[in-house]
Amino acid sequence: MKWVYVEDIAAHKDQDVEIRGWVYNKTSMGKVRFILVRDGTGLIQATAFSKDENNPLFAAYDKLTQESSLIVRGHVREDKRAPGGYELSLAEIEIVQIAQDYPITPKEHSTPFLMEHRHLWLRSQKQHAVLRVRAEVIKAIRDFFDDRGFRLMDTPILTPSACEGTTTLFETKYFDQAAYLSQSGQLYNEATAAAFGKVYCFGPAFRAEKSKTRRHLIEFWMVEPEVAFARLDDTIELGTDLILFIVERVLARRRGDLEEIERDPKPLEALTRPFPRYTYDAILPILNEKKTAEEKPLSYGDDFGAPEETIISSLSTNPVLITHFPAKIKAFYMQPDAQRPDLALGVDFMAPEGYGEVIGGGERIHDLALLEERIREHNLPREAYEWYIDLRKYGSVPHAGFGMGVERMVSWMCGIKHIRETIPFPRLLYRIYP
Ligand code: 4AD
Ligand code: MG
Repeated sequence: MKWVYVEDIAAHKDQDVEIRGWVYNKTSMGKVRFILVRDGTGLIQATAFSKDENNPLFAAYDKLTQESSLIVRGHVREDKRAPGGYELSLAEIEIVQIAQDYPITPKEHSTPFLMEHRHLWLRSQKQHAVLRVRAEVIKAIRDFFDDRGFRLMDTPILTPSACEGTTTLFETKYFDQAAYLSQSGQLYNEATAAAFGKVYCFGPAFRAEKSKTRRHLIEFWMVEPEVAFARLDDTIELGTDLILFIVERVLARRRGDLEEIERDPKPLEALTRPFPRYTYDAILPILNEKKTAEEKPLSYGDDFGAPEETIISSLSTNPVLITHFPAKIKAFYMQPDAQRPDLALGVDFMAPEGYGEVIGGGERIHDLALLEERIREHNLPREAYEWYIDLRKYGSVPHAGFGMGVERMVSWMCGIKHIRETIPFPRLLYRIYP
């Protein structure tokens, strides 16, 4: 008998097949036994009907507990009433293992309990759907860049230097030298962009961030395109195209999962270009006006935190772009505006519906003397950046790029509040188990 997966079941209508999986649930009604079997790709109802109580199928059914592993064989029948539209008329049940008392039952569990059992929680329908959306988002990102002629360049995870400030570095040993886990592949991407024109890297990034918010992970995945000769507006176009591409793909291919998560697709369907743009100077008074009396107003030069991101996120049904930040609050590599050198040519994309920053990027300094000055001002050890400075000596060109956090994108696509459910095993502040 042929081993098939539930997601392909329609192609096996009226055939005898074998399904290998786990017991999601079971019920009985008179002379019928129903086993809801989960095989990782979907759920199917397997039914046994008999007038004989001593039927071996019933005996096997009686032994089964939630999450017991089994192989079932039977005939695929179309049945509009069954979950998924098909059911399996059982001919055989082969038990692989009888599961012990499964800790996650259909009743409500607390988040700490579920996080402690993340290795099992992944089997639940909602978690399953979210992670399928994640896989689709990642596939969409790769297709987007590959189809546009961007070269994939894997950047190192062990690095001798900081990209996004020294306060969130994870330090480790590299033999007898200090090393850090990468916060971003950007600096290396600037080298590969000068070699290949347009590139992207896609990998894990690490931030020893002491912030415990629903938007922060300690280890997250980031895709970072970098384009030689591109300016701020080019990078804004690219980020806009990427977001719309991902949204379209998720809507086209993962509708069923969005339904499972109870994500209303309408706000995603309604996205349109261009996304509204504000400079830092223009958004500041709007933010202060929207703050409640108890909230501290922002002064010029303050960076945005979670409350500000939330307000900006609610200004439009589209992502809102913020540009021209005070250079002082931005990374050392940001290109200043030609007319207002106190402003950095950076951009943040704030997703709507309260999701906050999903993309951060902009133009990089291409002038040798200015970069040397910034490295000094930021007290960065020049030796570790010598190669990066070199890029400004040999055919330096304006260039721009950005980073998009995969988990932030997935939270928004799925409409879920907390980022911890968007990655199989989240690394959170003070949580590294399981
Ligand atoms: O704004 P960030 O820090 O920018 C950079 O790292 C640049 N070097 C990227 C570049 O220009 N190549 O991070 C970029 C994005 C954020 O917009 C956010 O989506 C995500 O990465 N991100 C996080 N996601 C989850 N948890 C965290 N702690 C994150 N920090 C950043
Ligand atoms: Mg940022």
